[in-house]
Amino acid sequence: MMKEIMEQPQAISATISPRIGNDGRIILDGIALTQEELQAFNRIFILACGSAYHVGVVGKYVIEQAARIPVEVDIASEFRYRMPLVDERSLVLIISQSGETADTLAALREAKSHGARVISIVNVVGSTIARESDDVLYTWAGPEIAVATTKAYSTQLAVLDMIGLAFGEALGTVKKEEYNEAVAELQKLPEKMEQFLASESCEAIPKYASQYFNHNSVFFIGRNLDYALGLEGSLKLKEISYIHSEAYASGELKHGTISLIEDGTLVIALGTYAPLFDKAMSNVVEVKARGADVLALATESHRGEMAKTVENVITIPDTAQMLLPSLGVVPLQLLAYYIALQRGCDIDKPRNLAKSVTVE
Ligand code: G6P
Repeated sequence: MMKEIMEQPQAISATISPRIGNDGRIILDGIALTQEELQAFNRIFILACGSAYHVGVVGKYVIEQAARIPVEVDIASEFRYRMPLVDERSLVLIISQSGETADTLAALREAKSHGARVISIVNVVGSTIARESDDVLYTWAGPEIAVATTKAYSTQLAVLDMIGLAFGEALGTVKKEEYNEAVAELQKLPEKMEQFLASESCEAIPKYASQYFNHNSVFFIGRNLDYALGLEGSLKLKEISYIHSEAYASGELKHGTISLIEDGTLVIALGTYAPLFDKAMSNVVEVKARGADVLALATESHRGEMAKTVENVITIPDTAQMLLPSLGVVPLQLLAYYIALQRGCDIDKPRNLAKSVTVE
């Protein structure tokens, strides 16, 4: 898992470089969707399981914001049995590392049987999902062996970002300057990830792990893209360290979860999403007031503000808003890794889990 975490800058580079032309425009592997065709879709569905589903949650925020098309993200095992309202006006994005996940494949077939156009984002070339889709966008992450996904997740995110930007450009819903800036930041993502991996903040993660590994319950909180990121951070932690962990949209805290916060409860507060930083901070203050032990994640530009309230802050470089989860996930993967290490867990082969789930 550590090897795959460290391979992420290279994997992202391999996934994005072939798709950005010299003119700085994104080309999606010859998937020629004209403005008319895109406008004809009345909805986009993103279907997946596990971490790939969490990529979909980020994708919903990113695509809706960039392309202004309604996006529904669904767990494949739910979608397949709910008589979904999917038809020839639906664009379906299927996300799968292995390309063989039983529920995801069944969701794909369900969507196709209703005439939807299916584009899959897959890592394994020639897998069943890749073969059965109308178009495939491969994530060039290389073989992923550790059960808990890291580099596949990151490359899937990069593909979703490219889809959002390409659709936004085609539909004229993203301003030229925003598009250019986001593409430039996307190209800088591998470098910024390396920058984080070499930073003091990253170096401090094993220390936080030794401080927190004995906790038996953890809450990840955040808003918007930070909420989507929290889902993945929480899954990583529970998968490999067996600590009970949940991710909450910060605004939902007061509807129940806050009753579980007591002296010493570990809360991982994600505060990278600038437009809602102040609201995220007020939730941090709320949990701290109830005794929570808070570890925070912030961008360089918000570190100072966060540090006024929270002692332990992990800092990631600033980047385009849509790319924040791509940088933010790295410290969360490392935190899960080092906590699992402290607990003596079998990190690459966690109990009861399989890399590829080919049965229902
Ligand atoms: C398993 C893996 C997860 C993965 C999920 C979906 O649960 O352990 O890491 O996210 O399956 O797999 P897929 O191959 O479809 O991405």
